[in-house]
Amino acid sequence: MAVQENTPSKGEASGVAEAAPLHVAIVMDGNGRWAKRRGLPRSLGHRAGADTLKRIVEAAPKLNIRWLTVFGFSTENWSRPAAEVAELMALPKRYFETDLARLEREGVRVRVIGSTQGLSRDLIKICREAEARTAGNDAFFLNVAFNYGGKADIVEAARRFAEEVAAGRAVPGDLTEAGFESLLATAGSPPPDLIVRPSGEQRLSNFMLWEAAYAEFVFQDVLWPDYSADHLKAAVAEFQTRNRRYGAVVPDDALAAG
Ligand code: FPP
Repeated sequence: MAVQENTPSKGEASGVAEAAPLHVAIVMDGNGRWAKRRGLPRSLGHRAGADTLKRIVEAAPKLNIRWLTVFGFSTENWSRPAAEVAELMALPKRYFETDLARLEREGVRVRVIGSTQGLSRDLIKICREAEARTAGNDAFFLNVAFNYGGKADIVEAARRFAEEVAAGRAVPGDLTEAGFESLLATAGSPPPDLIVRPSGEQRLSNFMLWEAAYAEFVFQDVLWPDYSADHLKAAVAEFQTRNRRYGAVVPDDALAAG
């Protein structure tokens, strides 16, 4: 199916999703298995995965996607061997060193979302600099979830609201879904329309738990380092066959139900 012009989804029960997804989120999975199959260290799998990220950031706007959120490091990934954690920690620096100028030039706004706890000062500085240098861009939005966990993010938002209440600036009855969303790390991005996970695994792994409420899921049997623009195009085409109802019924079915 051809990828069609994008129009922002408004959360309405619009039946078949004909538009391209406005926001795609990706669990970049399979780097370790890719490396193992080649007899390579896992670190090289992660580096190959970072190269894939570059390709996909270029491919996404051509498919009319405007927001891309990628899972680069989860709050659970700290439990990996220290050498692998160190390799993963080095990836944002490597990525921004080679790609930030291009992202800046091409109108990409970068945000690094997640906790800064445990990250080196150098890494935090690099991430904040990437955000600052691209803050005025709005052609495409790239969120890199790094040291991110959906549960931790929800707890952090709850804590921030509780602090408002404790300080007398809010009362519990003030809390709304929209207000809560504004406290999440993803505030300012629309919810993902499509969540993609390559590598054959079919789970969310603590990624965008709140935001995924009405996302469509596409699982693809390809390891992330081998993921190409064509795989993303296929995921978008699959998304476009889905019937998004947001808990309602589409008008024709409502008529049939009489
Ligand atoms: C999961 O695969 C992948 C990760 C934990 C890291 C993902 C990071 C990248 C693709 C590079 C991102 C670059 C930046 C700039 C953040 P896995 O190691 O769990 O693979 P496996 O399931 O095959 O072992």
